[in-house]
Amino acid sequence: MDVTIRQANERDLPAAADCWNAIVKESWKEDWDQKYPNWRSMFLAVVEKKMALGLQRYYVAEAAGEVVGTAGAQVGEAFFGAVRGYIEGVYVVPAFRRKGVASRLMRECIEWLRPMGCDSVRLQSTVEGRPLYESLGFEPTDELELRLNATKQSFAERYG
Ligand SMILES: CC(C)(COP(=O)(O)OP(=O)(O)OC[C@H]1O[C@@H](n2cnc3c(N)ncnc32)[C@H](O)[C@@H]1OP(=O)(O)O)[C@@H](O)C(=O)NCCC(=O)NCCS
Repeated sequence: MDVTIRQANERDLPAAADCWNAIVKESWKEDWDQKYPNWRSMFLAVVEKKMALGLQRYYVAEAAGEVVGTAGAQVGEAFFGAVRGYIEGVYVVPAFRRKGVASRLMRECIEWLRPMGCDSVRLQSTVEGRPLYESLGFEPTDELELRLNATKQSFAERYG
């Protein structure tokens, strides 16, 4: 079946949220709908805002009118104000895996980020995602994370 890759519009964002929850369920054995009941509205609000500012794009893979995969890219600020790209929410439904769909989504993200002036592109990988990203030239970094586990609140709710 043919798979088309296209830029997502606002109407596609609930499907992108579904893909996010599928990643979390599959890879982290969590269910954000249970854990963070308002996460979908937080997600939609932040992505819609960044899309309107031209700082974020989602791409969807579509087959027979259904979304079968997603990937999101955003432009952010790195140390001392440099421009950095971030990729997130990379997911392909099981029946469409190992057909190059995620690679096509990733390339769209990278080719959009490249002329935006990004010094690099970063992402947080699941175990399953690692071979995909390595096949595209991503290399491990020395980043570490300390989890503080604050109550999930949107940036806007907390800081206006
Ligand atoms: C990771 C994921 C997005 C890959 O999607 P995909 O469409 O199957 O990936 P592609 O077909 O583009 O794979 C490209 C290359 O990545 C590597 N790769 C992808 N999946 C792999 C796997 N399960 N095992 C080993 N290598 C893999 C291979 O080199 C592959 O090329 P090949 O098929 O010619 O050998 C998909 O398995 C998925 O959605 N997993 C669950 C969610 C997840 O972990 N997402 C990543 C979040 S960071």
